Amino acid sequence: MGKTKKDETLSSAQPFEFSKEFQNKLDSLNLSETVMDIKENGYAVVDAGESQNFNKELREVCVELSKETEGPARGYAASILLGRHPIFEKAILNPKLLALAEVMCGKGALLSQLIASIRPQGAQEIGLHADQNWFPAPFPVHNQLFTVCWALDDFTKEGGSTKVIPGSHKKRRHPLPDEILEQKGAIPIECSTGSLAMWDGSVWHSNYPRKAEGSRVVIHITFCRLALRPVENYDHLDEDWLKNKPSELSTLLGRDDFLGHKDFKKGGAGGETEKLFKTFTRARS
Ligand SMILES: [Fe+2]
Repeated sequence: MGKTKKDETLSSAQPFEFSKEFQNKLDSLNLSETVMDIKENGYAVVDAGESQNFNKELREVCVELSKETEGPARGYAASILLGRHPIFEKAILNPKLLALAEVMCGKGALLSQLIASIRPQGAQEIGLHADQNWFPAPFPVHNQLFTVCWALDDFTKEGGSTKVIPGSHKKRRHPLPDEILEQKGAIPIECSTGSLAMWDGSVWHSNYPRKAEGSRVVIHITFCRLALRPVENYDHLDEDWLKNKPSELSTLLGRDDFLGHKDFKKGGAGGETEKLFKTFTRARS
């Protein structure tokens, strides 16, 4: 009998099931332990492997670009970073980062968000949540969204680091109001400048209020699976085409939700919080 070629389109890789070739790649990048951590606890930390100078420049560029943001987020956020300075191409092509994105969101994962945040002394907690806010629970077995924080200052509890509930990703749902208040089992993710602190889309996390002096800078990098895009692109149907037409058409084309925003001057959700929460609600309906 001749060998039959395996049709890869007829099978799906299961979470944390890798080809030998990809496992070798993870081993060569020293990521096997990181992958085990994120599988077991829902989060992990690894050094990005970049120089101190690179991290220093990355921090400076983020602070500089945050001044171009307008409104309440000015000086505190810089969004849609790719293309705004060449350093972000190098950052986003970091081999560890790309390999981990493939682990968590599959081959061909998309960059969903590249935004820097600057948190000053006195910054408060944002509230416990799972990043898969765009998905109804129960979350799929396969992770859909992957967040990596590139620390450009040391992450400490006093400094307002990320707060995480290890293992909460196994519940595969959003936290309930009393769980958000209680935060049972929460611990800080503490790591040094130049680390990648990462978590899956299901783990419950927040941040500690910043008590330390000065500001901490971090780049939030989010990847998503490639599937949830419309097959056809309707960008050519502009506002003129939609004028005086039923609002359902605008909704069907994704023009009245938060996703796919293009204006870096808004600094992420800045000024559009209402739209953001409306989109979360719709996405879970
Ligand atoms: Fe988050």
